[in-house]
Amino acid sequence: MAAYRPLSTRWNLYLALLTILSCLVVPGVMVKHENFKTCSQSGFCKRSRAYADSVTSQGSAAASPYRLQSETIKFVDGQLQGTIVKSIDANEEVRLPLTVSFLESGVVRVLVDEEKRIKGDIELRHESKARKERYNEVSKWVLVGGLERSSSAAVNADAEAGITKISYGPGGSFEAVIRHSPFEVHFQRDGETHVQLNDQGFLNMEHWRAKREQHAEGENESQVQTNEDEDTWWEESFGGNTDSKPKGPESVGLDISFPGYSHVFGIPEHADSMSLKETRGGDGQHTEPYRLYNSDVFEYELNSPMTLYGSIPFMQAHRKGSTVGVLWLNAAETWVDIVKNKPSVNPLALGVKGKTNTRTHWFSEGGQLDVFVFLGPTPQSISKSYGELTGFTQLPQNFAIAYHQCRWNYVTDEDVRDVDHKFDMYQIPYDVIWLDIEYTDQKKYFTFDPLTFPDPEGMQKQLDESDRKLVVIIDPHIKNEANYQVVDEMKDKQLAVKNKNGDIYEGWCWPGSSHWVDCFNPDAITWWTNLFKYDKFKGTLANSFVWNDMNEPSVFNGPETTMPKDNLHHGDWEHRDVHNLNGMTLINATYNALLERKKGEIRRPFVLTRSYYAGSQRQGAMWTGDNQASWDHLAASFPMVLNNGIAGFPFAGADVGGFFGNPSKELLTRWYQAGVFYPFLRAHAHIDTRRREPYLAGEPYMGIITEALRLRYQLLPAWYTAFHQASIDGSPIVRPQYYIHPTDEQGFAIDDQLYVGSTGLLAKPVVTEGATSIDIYIADDEKYYDYFDYTIYEGAGKTHTVDAPLEKIPLLMQGGHIIPRKDRYRRSSGLMKWDPYTLIVVLDKKGEAEGTLYVDDGETFDYQNGAYIHRQFTFANSALSSGDLGTKGSKTAQYLKTMAAVRVEKIIVVGAPEEWKDKTSVLVLEEGAQSGVKAGLEWHGKEGNKGSYAVVRNPSVLIGKPWKIDFS
Ligand code: GLC
Repeated sequence: MAAYRPLSTRWNLYLALLTILSCLVVPGVMVKHENFKTCSQSGFCKRSRAYADSVTSQGSAAASPYRLQSETIKFVDGQLQGTIVKSIDANEEVRLPLTVSFLESGVVRVLVDEEKRIKGDIELRHESKARKERYNEVSKWVLVGGLERSSSAAVNADAEAGITKISYGPGGSFEAVIRHSPFEVHFQRDGETHVQLNDQGFLNMEHWRAKREQHAEGENESQVQTNEDEDTWWEESFGGNTDSKPKGPESVGLDISFPGYSHVFGIPEHADSMSLKETRGGDGQHTEPYRLYNSDVFEYELNSPMTLYGSIPFMQAHRKGSTVGVLWLNAAETWVDIVKNKPSVNPLALGVKGKTNTRTHWFSEGGQLDVFVFLGPTPQSISKSYGELTGFTQLPQNFAIAYHQCRWNYVTDEDVRDVDHKFDMYQIPYDVIWLDIEYTDQKKYFTFDPLTFPDPEGMQKQLDESDRKLVVIIDPHIKNEANYQVVDEMKDKQLAVKNKNGDIYEGWCWPGSSHWVDCFNPDAITWWTNLFKYDKFKGTLANSFVWNDMNEPSVFNGPETTMPKDNLHHGDWEHRDVHNLNGMTLINATYNALLERKKGEIRRPFVLTRSYYAGSQRQGAMWTGDNQASWDHLAASFPMVLNNGIAGFPFAGADVGGFFGNPSKELLTRWYQAGVFYPFLRAHAHIDTRRREPYLAGEPYMGIITEALRLRYQLLPAWYTAFHQASIDGSPIVRPQYYIHPTDEQGFAIDDQLYVGSTGLLAKPVVTEGATSIDIYIADDEKYYDYFDYTIYEGAGKTHTVDAPLEKIPLLMQGGHIIPRKDRYRRSSGLMKWDPYTLIVVLDKKGEAEGTLYVDDGETFDYQNGAYIHRQFTFANSALSSGDLGTKGSKTAQYLKTMAAVRVEKIIVVGAPEEWKDKTSVLVLEEGAQSGVKAGLEWHGKEGNKGSYAVVRNPSVLIGKPWKIDFS
């Protein structure tokens, strides 16, 4: 492809014609369903559903063959231990060791394994070299803390026979009621049941058994085993690939019910509504379960429970005033059925309130049964305890939350320089430019194509002049070609994934024939880390970062576009067991590599990943993969990003503009206006699309897009503060309605508007063509002000129509907040570092407001030693004050020195009281100062429906110091 050159007028005309034509053509893209399994094509999914149906048809969970042997129960140090037995028939029982751990955080972990497999007392078929145990290392990859056992959890003495009750949680207000036979657990908070395990009797662990090669004489099919469907126990074929299944059937399944809850959220990644639908049919509901099996789904469809690139098996259930949650810690292929119905009468479900029960059924192809139960009671408390277990969002570098410019591909280093230059020419801010796969020398990662990128260093130096960065793609498939050092080393050191015979696995991806690095292997991580050293990955400089794509892994000729399940990873674990972790292990290795590129150079890494699992939030950002340039894909991105946030991975975004196809200029413009509310903001496009950098859009589009990006840059201090909060307590960065208003039932399912952090900023992106206005739902009785002109919207529990012509972003400010901004336009976020702040004080009905600001160097880990500023702003009793938050450390003083000149240059008080009408000044009191100094105040009265406001210019207060401004 030729490098980008400025277009002549004639070409512009052609381009315009083409644009018009392309808008008339509706993209005819559609997912190839035949490439991905439906539940009935996935052996264990079919069996699990059939099992559930047969239990349900018997009308009683009491038939469940799982019984906790009362005599085996022990309670030691906050943990109940025992053995569940599964009765096969009168003569055969399977022993399943159980531990129930009561954690200090109030979370409970229920873990069930299978004795025979633990002991290795089974035989594998086909001379397989795979491990015999159920996979027991998910927690090694996922859990980073929060496992301290409760010292106060205690067995409750007054339980009846056959029931064990354990009280735990804050002040002993939680209780786990464990029925022994059939095994069942009810989790109660303040005497009320919120979560039930095996209430429906769907608990099922497919135990190990030897294959009976043929039926004995005289036996018919149903006598050989139980009435189970053995079709796919020993072998399973799909799309021309056969899975040899050396361990036979080993799935795990369990029903988890939420009595009185009508909404469940989470379990990304699905292109669906945020409030999950039912999956057993019904009007507008799905007929397939939600699937979690990380896959490269080409041209994915919307409103679908189909699997996508990432998976987080974490769900929050919400009802008025209560939130609970579950984490299903299993990395194998997983499906989740959801059914909602009226409460049934169940004597154990003490005091269940509410209208609807949501019953879920989870099943995975193998591994242990490992479930964490969270009793809340708020969404915030669930996010926090989930983050304590799986880790919080990495605090990114400043640039990472600014605007990223990507396409497949910037074709030469000259092209990159030219784009960089054009952004400046048109005064459009951007921070990062990206290189997709074509920058490499024939898809050999860790190289630059010498013809098209002869001077990568010069290119990066140019970017660095305006503190901009480069991100290069590095995929996990390594080209299988002679004399390519990377592949040679990987082979020599045996660091690649193996096939079922133990030989190096070979498949197809972008480079053609490839091998896959096995980042489950610690030696592979060390090797991978070395590849990124500046003298190894020649051409990269300190301002380059990494994009890990295709890490599901995507294998073009593999079953369901991924690896065969009987492939082998480090430790001889089958790919089947670890599939959903695979993507995470790659970014783990890359994250590590970026930390160690050069001795002494410690910068926070930035890695973008397509595939992910619970815990990936610790090391990178994600995006929603290959979407389409269509209005419905724009709309779908919000529930997806919101659900990711609920599931603890909030650093999320979608390709702005849409990956496949050419967006109309209106769509592109609206996408930018919407995209500035993605925590991860990147424009990207397929190689076959026309160039669409914002400056090519022409007016009025270019100007409108520029304004949208400037809005993002202006609010970067607020965004960074939200990221910081996510990094310490797991709060989503953009938050859905139920998260902010947990008692407002009307808002629970709303997923097309969002709040930015704790700022009170409420955005409702326009996602339809030709819109001139939009309806925003307001839950509470507070005043909301239009961000740009202070128009007031007021009235709880209803929608309000807001003008939204093309140039307008529907964005409101909820009364009661103080929003930090930086109002000077710069080329990149780095150049804003020392700029002064503006504070927007949005008064609530009581005339009060509060907000926070977190600032650090935006690059290093010094904040871990106190090198940061964290302020609490409060407006009360007619005074605005800035107080200190957070604990300090060894680097605090030094950091504060660097920030000593950074001040607040403007304060705008929205909803300023009438009494200020004749005021011309305020009194500024800095800490330690003997007397105050005056700063000017301008008051602007209410005009029509537009709220009053007052402006204080140059109050001369410092951002890092305590101060008070008296407005009385
Ligand atoms: C995948 C990615 C896409 C990228 C392309 C080429 O389709 O999802 O973003 O541009 O591969 O690397």
